[in-house]
Amino acid sequence: MKIDYSEFYEQLKGSDLESWNNALPELIAHGLRYERYGLLPQWEEALAQLPALKRVAVDLKNEVRIEGEACPELTEQLQAFHPWRKGPYNIHGVHIDTEWRSDWKWDRVLPHLQPLEGRTILDVGCGNGYHCWRMAGEGAKLVVGIDPTPMFICQFFALKNFINNSRAWVLPLGIEHVPETPGAFDTVFSMGVLYHRKSPVDHIFNLKSFLRPGGELVIETLVADGPEGYSLIPQGRYAKMRNVWFIPSVPTLELWLKRCGLRDIRTVDINTTSTDEQRSTDWMTFDSLPTFLDPADPTKTIEGHPAPKRAVVVATG
Ligand SMILES: C[S@@+](CC[C@H](N)C(=O)[O-])C[C@H]1O[C@@H](n2cnc3c(N)ncnc32)[C@H](O)[C@@H]1O
Repeated sequence: MKIDYSEFYEQLKGSDLESWNNALPELIAHGLRYERYGLLPQWEEALAQLPALKRVAVDLKNEVRIEGEACPELTEQLQAFHPWRKGPYNIHGVHIDTEWRSDWKWDRVLPHLQPLEGRTILDVGCGNGYHCWRMAGEGAKLVVGIDPTPMFICQFFALKNFINNSRAWVLPLGIEHVPETPGAFDTVFSMGVLYHRKSPVDHIFNLKSFLRPGGELVIETLVADGPEGYSLIPQGRYAKMRNVWFIPSVPTLELWLKRCGLRDIRTVDINTTSTDEQRSTDWMTFDSLPTFLDPADPTKTIEGHPAPKRAVVVATG
């Protein structure tokens, strides 16, 4: 398997995203440059070693599971892409038990959405593309995930080697690099990204710009208890993460969306992250949530902030 977007470029021809073909080759090359990402050649080599196995069944709707021919080396070959954060995946008998149960997030989000069948979808900050595959499993016409982290692009192509579905793609781009294409998407997702943005209101405006009128915006983010207007701005780290800027209260988040011109704003889920949902595994052996919490009081992070709680807000563009 190689990182190759030529089939994606063909798919864009004649679509609302056709103009991307002018800018994408250069943006993608920039997103995958060796000077910045020294391990990339190693991952590309690992991609090249992946076997072509016979598939007998593909399930992207209920989970991401590929059934078929087994391969004794497959566990080791997929371990080359450690750390696996988003999943889980079941690939030809190998269970990739990722740090996150991203399927649990999907179960909280999906019931509240307009049907994804036939939709063109943008998933901003999609990681290795776990939810992109699940969106394809719901019958989306085209899912474009974007994430600036090259390791996740390599994981995506490792999975694509086995899943072989051309409706979902992950591009090595940050949202700030996506070519302007007003109204090109029916549904826009931003899950786990808002609190990483220095300017969350600009992020929401940016997301909205990609949405067609009447389309659906889905934001999933950390939230903190508090009244309208309140936002936690951690001084230093939050749950050991360096790059957390704003953790709004739910009323503040809804107000931000309203001020950005979104309509029909609904908070459809609020959930405190458990150490069953985010934890170290054989496929992500670094520290995880259990050590990010105060051992004496797990309702607090190690820095003394409220422990991670996440909300899903859905709105119409
Ligand atoms: C917490 S993860 C969320 C992954 C996935 N959406 C989920 O909900 O499970 C945040 C992701 O945002 C990505 N990210 C960071 N900066 C970004 C940017 N400027 N534009 C798009 N994605 C970004 C990170 O690489 C990371 O994969």
